[in-house]
Amino acid sequence: MRTSVDVFAKAREHERLAQLREARERDMVPYFRVLEGPTLPVVEMEGSRRIMLGSNNYLGLTGDERVQRGALDALRRYGTGLTGSRFLNGTIDLHLELEDELAQWLGTEAAIVFTTGHQANLGALGTILGPGDTVVADSGDHASILDGCILSRAKLRAFRHNRIDRLEHALERAAADGGGILVVVDGVFSMEGDVAPLPQIAELCERFGARLMGAEAHALGVLGSRGAGTCELLGVEDRVDLRMATFSKSLASCGGVIAGPADVIEFLRIASRPFMFTASAVPAAIGAALAAVRICRSEEGRELFANVLANARYLHRGLDELGFQVVAPTSLPDGTEVVTPVVPVVVGDDWKAALLWKALYDAGVYVNVALHPAVPPAGALLRTSVMATHDQAVLDDALEAFASVKQTFEAEHGELPGRL
Ligand SMILES: Cc1ncc(COP(=O)(O)O)c(C=O)c1O
Repeated sequence: MRTSVDVFAKAREHERLAQLREARERDMVPYFRVLEGPTLPVVEMEGSRRIMLGSNNYLGLTGDERVQRGALDALRRYGTGLTGSRFLNGTIDLHLELEDELAQWLGTEAAIVFTTGHQANLGALGTILGPGDTVVADSGDHASILDGCILSRAKLRAFRHNRIDRLEHALERAAADGGGILVVVDGVFSMEGDVAPLPQIAELCERFGARLMGAEAHALGVLGSRGAGTCELLGVEDRVDLRMATFSKSLASCGGVIAGPADVIEFLRIASRPFMFTASAVPAAIGAALAAVRICRSEEGRELFANVLANARYLHRGLDELGFQVVAPTSLPDGTEVVTPVVPVVVGDDWKAALLWKALYDAGVYVNVALHPAVPPAGALLRTSVMATHDQAVLDDALEAFASVKQTFEAEHGELPGRL
């Protein structure tokens, strides 16, 4: 018997097809735009100069000579690729140096380097957890965390974003599930740029006997006086069992890391499928990440962390003063505000977000557009982000573009969400 179901049907009939077609016809698809040079504060993109407010190059290190030299030296010494898994022929001394530096930086016993951050999440969660366990995740966690949870086949209990009461409830249920429990949260959430209340989360984990994993993709090289991330900033480094980070943000490269107890890291080396069954990163990526880590750990690191956060504050204030609805920095119980490099502007409607994006793009400013499922339904955002190397004049130019675009946009399409 022949099946009447074509697995390709979803590609040809999905719900966003008509909208995508119209957006394409009007040249307003915000994705896959082509860069024609390096990711710097101002870039060449599709034939024009545009201010880059849509990159995760938070410290601006992709253009740093020392980082580029790290990549070039590695390329010359080890060639273009390693053509094999870390497990077999794909480990070089730079991996070991990098793992050592990262463990020291994060203050853990050991660290393991993966080819990407996505694989680090998959490789840790998919190996540490099994079908008898329960994983409790924030609903705002990155897709790679969710993918790792699914891969593990552990029971997944999601709790409402940053709601400690909901986490407590989820943990009560998880305790009744009868297996081991892991809570996994992003330290800085990638779209809203807000911060997880890690001290309260750690307290609940301790009460329920759960392990805690903190993902520092957007916080490593940014938060804390050592730049070691949210766990450092919030003083919970010794209460978070596993830490994850990626090299594709502040570290100006590509790759991922899991840091934690030596025995757990050793276990990942011999049991983690996303570690063992994929090729090792190209040597240039490892050389660049190692050079970037060394800059972060030097005195210069502190200056860069301070600069990126000062730029975020400046852009946040500027957009707020123009009347945009900007997601507020997280307030800690002691009243201090945690600013992160992610400065999101709330738009709400998907189509309006794409229209506003296009108007800004044409005015010479590139930002990211976040639509559902990256954000909750009807929660479309323009996700702007800054680098330590943006200067104030460039940010002022960007703000000027936002101001003039807002005026013409609202005259044509109605009011955007206003200041809170
Ligand atoms: C919060 C978060 N976690 C994980 C990842 C995955 O990292 P990578 O780009 O290294 O695969 C990303 C990158 O988009 C991210 O934003």
